[in-house]
Amino acid sequence: MFNNIKKDFPIFLNIPDLVYLDSAATSQKPQQVIDSVTKFYSKENANIARGLYKIAEDATMNYEQVRSKVQKFVNAKSSNEIIFTQNTTSSLNAVMRGWGENFVKKHDKIVTTVMEHHSNFVPWQFLAKRKQANLVVVDVDDDGQIDLGDFEKKVKDSKIVTLSTVSNVLGVINNVNKLCDIAHEQGAICVVDGAQSVPSMPTDVQKINCDFLAFSGHKMLAPFGIGILYGKEELLEKSDPFVYGSQMIRKVTQKENEWNDLPYKFEPGTPDISAVIGLGKAVDYLSVLGMDNIHKHEQMLIGYLLKQFSELDGLNVLGPENSKQRGGLVSFSLDKIHSHDVAAMLAEDNICVRSGHHCAMPIHERFGLAATTRASVYVYNQKEDIDKLINSLKQVQKVFS
Ligand code: ALA
Repeated sequence: MFNNIKKDFPIFLNIPDLVYLDSAATSQKPQQVIDSVTKFYSKENANIARGLYKIAEDATMNYEQVRSKVQKFVNAKSSNEIIFTQNTTSSLNAVMRGWGENFVKKHDKIVTTVMEHHSNFVPWQFLAKRKQANLVVVDVDDDGQIDLGDFEKKVKDSKIVTLSTVSNVLGVINNVNKLCDIAHEQGAICVVDGAQSVPSMPTDVQKINCDFLAFSGHKMLAPFGIGILYGKEELLEKSDPFVYGSQMIRKVTQKENEWNDLPYKFEPGTPDISAVIGLGKAVDYLSVLGMDNIHKHEQMLIGYLLKQFSELDGLNVLGPENSKQRGGLVSFSLDKIHSHDVAAMLAEDNICVRSGHHCAMPIHERFGLAATTRASVYVYNQKEDIDKLINSLKQVQKVFS
């Protein structure tokens, strides 16, 4: 599948021997997205929601059209439920500040999992401390799957349950539909970190029935600087903004002010309009490929990679052995070789992977590791990229043997 896609990505034309296996950190960008940003700055550059002249009105209209596109992409009920932020981190912090500050009280329970990225861990740790609430952390089994018994026990009487669809370290796909249902039965709201899933598989917020979903544009072919927060309209209405000024205000007198309507209440200041325009093109590009196809393509590549990994002595994989339970990434360690040494040696062969704790220290601690190496795939990768990785890893092992 997707055999001819690399030609759409100028980075692969400019660096022909690049083996890019770090899309979980950020994806490469297709020419169509780059062109849309250039076109905006060359022909349409103006601020939104202010000017009454043509290019300003066009910029506003195009910006709002992208909001509707994203609404359809995740199947939200209304475009009022789509907030443009800077990235997944700022989206999750907006929920913590906006909803958490209003509703979490002393002794309340906030539940998260040990596999979360720091962006979906630290904000809740901070809130719990500030409110004298309790942060409770659900464990995983040795295969990296959420321990359902532990989850059900810990979720009891909680106020917020927050978890990722796909772990950026374990690669495991969590059954968020089921986990959100369990959270709701306890009267909790369910916050989902979709940073590693929305770019790679179909997302339907109504089916998941999550209350909030956070994700980033830059991992799904769009420019940097654009994040998305989906929130159920009634919950966004009950949440307060936490950055003030500009168009998030409807009325200001010398004594008072009134928040603007959704979604503008959460979009203070001039946004990165060009990144939003690029996001629109990225959504078009992904929609043509088909999110189901992208998911299948990634699982095929990860299945291929795991099979080859199983033949390498001294290579240990984190997370499920079965690629059907995974998104498009695998973290691993090599006996007696530090992950930074592995990544540095792979870099000599122009192979890009990530090494370290991947901003997810608790899950590394859970498995008794300080760091791992992570390979992640996306639409432009093919089996030959995996073959090159395997060959280089064999060399790394030889050098360190
Ligand atoms: N969160 C991104 C990663 O896992 C940056 O690499």
